[in-house]
Amino acid sequence: MWGKRDDMVVHQVDPYNAEPPRRALAGEDTTPVDTFYSRNHGSVPEIDPDGWTLRVDGLVDRPATFGLDDLRRLFTEHTETATLQCAGNRRAGLIEVRDIPGEAPWGPAATATARWAGVRVADLLRHVGVHHEATDVAFTGADTATSPATGAPYGGSIPARKALMPEVLLAWSMNGEPLPAIHGAPVRVVAPGYIGARSVKWIERITVQDGPSDNFFQASTYRLLPPEVDPSSAGPGDGVALGLVAVNSDVLSPDDGAQVPAGPTTVTGYAFAGGDRTVVRVDVSTDGGETWTRAGLADQLSPWAWRHWSATVEVPRGEVTVLARAWDSSAALQPERPEHVWNPKGYVNNSWARLHLHGV
Ligand code: MTE
Repeated sequence: MWGKRDDMVVHQVDPYNAEPPRRALAGEDTTPVDTFYSRNHGSVPEIDPDGWTLRVDGLVDRPATFGLDDLRRLFTEHTETATLQCAGNRRAGLIEVRDIPGEAPWGPAATATARWAGVRVADLLRHVGVHHEATDVAFTGADTATSPATGAPYGGSIPARKALMPEVLLAWSMNGEPLPAIHGAPVRVVAPGYIGARSVKWIERITVQDGPSDNFFQASTYRLLPPEVDPSSAGPGDGVALGLVAVNSDVLSPDDGAQVPAGPTTVTGYAFAGGDRTVVRVDVSTDGGETWTRAGLADQLSPWAWRHWSATVEVPRGEVTVLARAWDSSAALQPERPEHVWNPKGYVNNSWARLHLHGV
């Protein structure tokens, strides 16, 4: 389905919501398109690339409408390697603490990294001239959300100062291939360092404004609510709008619950810092955090990408839990337990990775 590998863990068929098994992300720093998770709130809209247009308006000097050819003719193509991470990544670990009704139990693979190519949002914004009172840049997609059914198009915004940074793209290609329909063809936003929700697919409109988007997916959801709040009674503006990704990591191999020979075992995983931070250290423990082994970090592919890591640990006979924790360049460390970060919509589970192995 949608050109994805057969072993995707499909949380929902339509809208399509699926992630690969964790081991599928191991090894490769850049994720093949068929392995890249997909998160959708509505059905994939049918868009004829020849008829597609992008309207840019709001607090700008010269509101304008661009077709694909205009974008190619007027602006230079740029490529950026960037990780997308859904705010619901690793929600399954929060559901183990307390149920989160109506939300999919995403595992650790609602995150992936691709080489995105397209034009810079900043170049478009400079072309139309942004007013000095602008604070935010809102994006609207062509899809209508059915899950939850808002009856309105999907959208969201990022701060104007971020939209003017060179890494924020209107991408038409992914790993050198034309952007697939499920990932937002013909053109999507890629906002590196921000939660995946802000990388709006099937983009049709960019509005420069003096406040954040009032779209449902910015004003009413993708917000961090205090644990005691009933999300069904929460209104627009309640809680904290999620934006910059928090430092996170998880194990990619072996599989959770795997049997491994007792003795030295290699454990691999990913760590992602978010914002404009980078991952600087990952530790792994097999004794509940009494002692830690420093993991080796793979090269930093780009300032906007995850780092894969690898460590050899001593696995005893019997059940053992592997813990992993990452630090970012602001010295932030992942919180220890999912209980500490539990929230009613199940976002941002960045507690230490926990993987169960059976040493034989
Ligand atoms: N854009 C539109 N138009 N509609 C959506 O449902 N989902 C968002 C974002 N952009 C979404 C969207 C969310 S929540 C995430 S995590 C990313 O797209 C997922 O991107 P992907 O499906 O390409 O992996």
